Amino acid sequence: MRKVRWGVIGATAMIAVERVIPAMLEAERSEIIAVASRDPAQARGVAERFGIPRVHASYEALLADPDIEAVYIPLPNNLHMQWTIAAIEAGKHVLCEKPIALNAGEVTHMIAARDKAGVLVEEAFMLRDHPQWSRMREIIRSGRLGKIQATQGLYTYFNRDPDDIRNRDPELGGGGTYDLGCYTTAVARYVFQAEPMRVIATMQKDPSFGTARLSSVILEFPDGHGSWTISTQSARYQGLTILGEKGWMRPEIPHVPFAENETRIFIAGDTWPGPFPEETITLAPVNQYTLQGDRFSRLVLGEAVEAWPLETALANIKVLDALFRSQASGSWETV
Ligand SMILES: NC(=O)c1ccc[n+]([C@@H]2O[C@H](COP(=O)([O-])OP(=O)(O)OC[C@H]3O[C@@H](n4cnc5c(N)ncnc54)[C@H](OP(=O)(O)O)[C@@H]3O)[C@@H](O)[C@H]2O)c1
Repeated sequence: MRKVRWGVIGATAMIAVERVIPAMLEAERSEIIAVASRDPAQARGVAERFGIPRVHASYEALLADPDIEAVYIPLPNNLHMQWTIAAIEAGKHVLCEKPIALNAGEVTHMIAARDKAGVLVEEAFMLRDHPQWSRMREIIRSGRLGKIQATQGLYTYFNRDPDDIRNRDPELGGGGTYDLGCYTTAVARYVFQAEPMRVIATMQKDPSFGTARLSSVILEFPDGHGSWTISTQSARYQGLTILGEKGWMRPEIPHVPFAENETRIFIAGDTWPGPFPEETITLAPVNQYTLQGDRFSRLVLGEAVEAWPLETALANIKVLDALFRSQASGSWETV
């Protein structure tokens, strides 16, 4: 089976050079044949580092390359819609970084462009490609934990770099609600396999950056409550507890587990005093970024694999829209 030919625009992005490009070079169904940057000299550096054969002088030139079938977009959040639509209109399949847009209206434009061009477009939520998530979904569906009543998530790091796209300018779509809250929201929706009806949020902005540095929310689902706290100015942490009527489950590292290490899921029934696991499921090391690139490439090649279409991204960003409205109103907001 052949490999899908990929191009990367914004190739110097931290996530591209640190994670996604090296991971996709390991994939069975993906090859990266070209890169482009705002500065072609920087793009040449990335191409030399990874042995990528082609460098284009601009993003536009890469999109005009007829040999490229799919484009990976790791640009600042405020540029996702513009360049996703440009890539779609050039006839490319698109994997765009999270959050795929700043609001639901932007995703609606992307959906219209996608439908006109007949290409595939996904938001790069790589964690869904880690097998720990399909395993947890199986356990939830098996009924072992009973009806799921609550999820509690935490995702934090410390970053006060004024030049970082998350801090530099609110117009870039920075701040923790976009950067981390998109994951914690996606995870709660994944666990409940439903959409929240209403939400309430409180967010603290950094006084100099003007972007959210601490956000805590409750998402009210038909059968339970998803809550999470994210922070961009706290010690690093990632955690999730899934609580059911009959038991609980906790992935050791829910969002970005080490690619080199085994991954563990802890599970228990209704025990005293509560937090000690009765069973630990251990999964072999995998690189979720490699799996993400491979799965998307398989979709492009017409294989029957799980897809996460833009409609899923739209549902996620609708929740973020409601969280921002709740922060402004101080009240519950419907999604
Ligand atoms: N899935 C994950 O695990 C994960 C992790 C981190 C970040 N992300 C997402 O990936 C995206 C990029 O994040 P990052 O941390 O990699 O950012 P970054 O290092 O700042 O990279 C962004 C890239 O966008 C290009 N760019 C174009 N216009 C720009 C502008 N006005 N200002 C800054 N950069 C501009 C630049 O590439 P050129 O100069 O080469 O054109 C730059 O290197 C974000 O959407 C973020 O949410 C995902």
